[in-house]
Amino acid sequence: MAVPAYEVRNLVKRYAPDLPPANDGLSLDIYQGEIFGLLGPNGAGKTTLVRQLTGLTRPTSGTIRLFGHDVVADPSLIHHWVALQPQGLALPSQEMPRELLVLTGQLRGMTVAAARKQADELIEAFNLGGKLKVPFHRLSGGQRRLISIALALMGDRPVLVFDEPTNDLDPEVRRVVWQRIQEGARGGRTVILVTHNVVEAETVLDRVAIVRRGQILALGTPGELKGRVAGNVRLELLFRPGGDEQAAGWLLERSAIPMGARRYAVIVPRPQAAEAISDVLPRLELLDDFRIVTPNLEDVYLELSGGESIGS
Ligand SMILES: Nc1ncnc2c1ncn2[C@@H]1O[C@H](COP(=O)(O)OP(=O)(O)OP(=O)(O)O)[C@@H](O)[C@H]1O
Ligand SMILES: [Mg+2]
Repeated sequence: MAVPAYEVRNLVKRYAPDLPPANDGLSLDIYQGEIFGLLGPNGAGKTTLVRQLTGLTRPTSGTIRLFGHDVVADPSLIHHWVALQPQGLALPSQEMPRELLVLTGQLRGMTVAAARKQADELIEAFNLGGKLKVPFHRLSGGQRRLISIALALMGDRPVLVFDEPTNDLDPEVRRVVWQRIQEGARGGRTVILVTHNVVEAETVLDRVAIVRRGQILALGTPGELKGRVAGNVRLELLFRPGGDEQAAGWLLERSAIPMGARRYAVIVPRPQAAEAISDVLPRLELLDDFRIVTPNLEDVYLELSGGESIGS
């Protein structure tokens, strides 16, 4: 039986009375030992939710329990249990990465020796060994992100929260980070992961909440959610410059969904996949690329949001 780490009920966060709520009545449980994801477009309210879960922002109304304790009434409890990798990177810029890691470990109750050992181990895993003498502000964006992830991992807190950890990481180191996150959860820790990345969501998450305009559109395992759109395939079209303007009428007839610059998606029932491809072939000269893909979480979002893209 799954035991909840977090129990969130009717959570509302309103930053100003005249603005729509950034979190609009969210209720969810996050179980101990799972990797729980929040997936949704810019401005959906994901960071607002994790800021409340980590005690950085107070809810306007609603309750949050962590390990059975009311952490809205007593946010100080959160800091014993939770480590956060924030979306923004506000760290002391003159510090060296290893010192930051060791200090964080000590602040979380580790001995100096244990903190140094874990810091060195993370530095090696994230391939930051060459950067020990470089202050934080001289590191690349990806290296800073890695330090920020390593900081969250220091001290082995029972709850780890990552707000878009892998956006600016290369594919190789991204896999190392995913592996660390999965090891953390296998060791019994609860992980909350905010992502825009559908591949990340499907690879790493045990369960995912799809968030839009402060509300949960759907919640389940990636497999369960994808089951909702299993009857379709998606035709992805990347047009040459100006090609989409020439094909405007054709795109409109097929209810094509804009997915970014010159990129469109057409959702097709599986039995009509062959027909859809032969429909594209006469227009190949307008295209840089096209492919047909089986549904992923992006399609679940497209379906639930009435044809809006998550974006990336
Ligand atoms: N401190 C703040 N004051 C006022 N409005 C805010 C504040 N922080 C966030 N918002 C608003 O709340 C909404 C949700 O923002 P939030 O940062 O939670 O979204 P997000 O899902 O994390 O987006 P992204 O994927 O871009 O990080 C947005 O409309 C944003 O403008
Ligand atoms: Mg955010």
